[in-house]
Amino acid sequence: MNVSEVKTTGLKPGNSDWQSRKDAAFPRAVGNLAPVFIERARNAELWDVEGKRYIDFGTGIAVCSTGHTNPKVTEAVQEQLQRFSHTCLGITPYGSAVELAEKLNELAPGNTQKKTMFVTTGAEAVENCIKIARAFTGRRGVIAFNGGFHGRTMMALGLTGKVAPYKTMFGPLPGEIYHVPFPIEYHGVTLGQTLRALETLFKVSIAPADVAAIIVEPVQGEGGFYPASNEFLQALRKLCDEHGIVLIADEIQSGFARTGKFFCCEYAGVEPDLMTVAKGVAGGFPLAAVVGKADMMDAPLPGGLGGTYAGSPIGCVAALAVIDLIAEENLLDRANQIGSLFESRLNQLQQEYPGVIGDIRARRGAMIAMELVKNGDPDQPDPNLTTALVTKAWQNGLILLSCGIRGNVIRFLPALTISDDLVKEGMETVTRCLNELLTSGC
Ligand SMILES: Cc1ncc(COP(=O)(O)O)c(C=O)c1O
Repeated sequence: MNVSEVKTTGLKPGNSDWQSRKDAAFPRAVGNLAPVFIERARNAELWDVEGKRYIDFGTGIAVCSTGHTNPKVTEAVQEQLQRFSHTCLGITPYGSAVELAEKLNELAPGNTQKKTMFVTTGAEAVENCIKIARAFTGRRGVIAFNGGFHGRTMMALGLTGKVAPYKTMFGPLPGEIYHVPFPIEYHGVTLGQTLRALETLFKVSIAPADVAAIIVEPVQGEGGFYPASNEFLQALRKLCDEHGIVLIADEIQSGFARTGKFFCCEYAGVEPDLMTVAKGVAGGFPLAAVVGKADMMDAPLPGGLGGTYAGSPIGCVAALAVIDLIAEENLLDRANQIGSLFESRLNQLQQEYPGVIGDIRARRGAMIAMELVKNGDPDQPDPNLTTALVTKAWQNGLILLSCGIRGNVIRFLPALTISDDLVKEGMETVTRCLNELLTSGC
């Protein structure tokens, strides 16, 4: 159906009408998981243009952690909109940005004095971490991990440790980036192997004295929801201290209460030098930040950091409301309760379908995953079942996301404000869909 047909029929376009128009208007590289066009959303539920309701276990990829259209966030934004929407922080600043920077500096792990700069997206925060680390150290190299995801801009893409679809056809990517294995016990990669790979890298490819930064996700997100162990993060801290390397924690997905702490690296008692913040920080409004040790943050020259929309007043007031909500509604504890609820249901499922759910990862708040395999074998991933489950789920009113370097992980990222009843209802849908797929021989 073309645009004029939709207009002239006078009928309200449905999901398939919008999908056809989207397919015609967007490049194929900008896909969507479900042909479901959203009309409204409230807390942990969505309604599409045809009036169908969905439970949301994805929160727009870990963004709406305080729930869709949270009244407190909406009110703060509406109030801000009455006053002004943009003046540019680099031209005529405003108090909400200062207040938010002060709060983030306080909340960041560790006692070293911190400073904060704002940008708009996660990838931009990653880019700026590398700029700051290079300016501070005067060094060129950056080390990242296999399976890591850091965004889609060129440097972030270079740091990302997964080729298809992110890097395919987009080279040449920036140089001086080195990848080493991320320790994942379930896949037989030990911490010892990772540390030996770093030693080898320092002998074979780049001297530690030339390395500006190591960037790590405290829980690998897109790569498959693999948590970095406390020992791993502590070992990286020690290595960085020994060699004067900047340790960057990419907390874009794992931060802001998602894992039951404000920032996930708190579990390891590790203070990163620089930290990225995005996604859940502003309850659905585009805001991202780099929070870091003050001396490092001050390394670039005046005017060297910023952007037209960096630290938009809309995002800043939304983030201030989110911080209040996390405290008022005790969302750190709630994240852990949600994790336990999922874990007990997933353990049951694992027993009901032996050999299908290879691993359950539910020990970091509401950043929960199950890895789907064949014959209980970690080396026999089942990406087909994973994709089929995601599809069947949305057809049955549940938004589920997948991830993983092998495409065989279901990740659960519900709002931290979701009710127990909705978690149970959503997990009943997962069970029913899995059962139907397995009995039909998928
Ligand atoms: C750990 C991590 N870093 C960086 C990014 C990039 O963020 P954005 O998509 O906002 O650029 C993401 C997005 O999923 C992420 O999960």
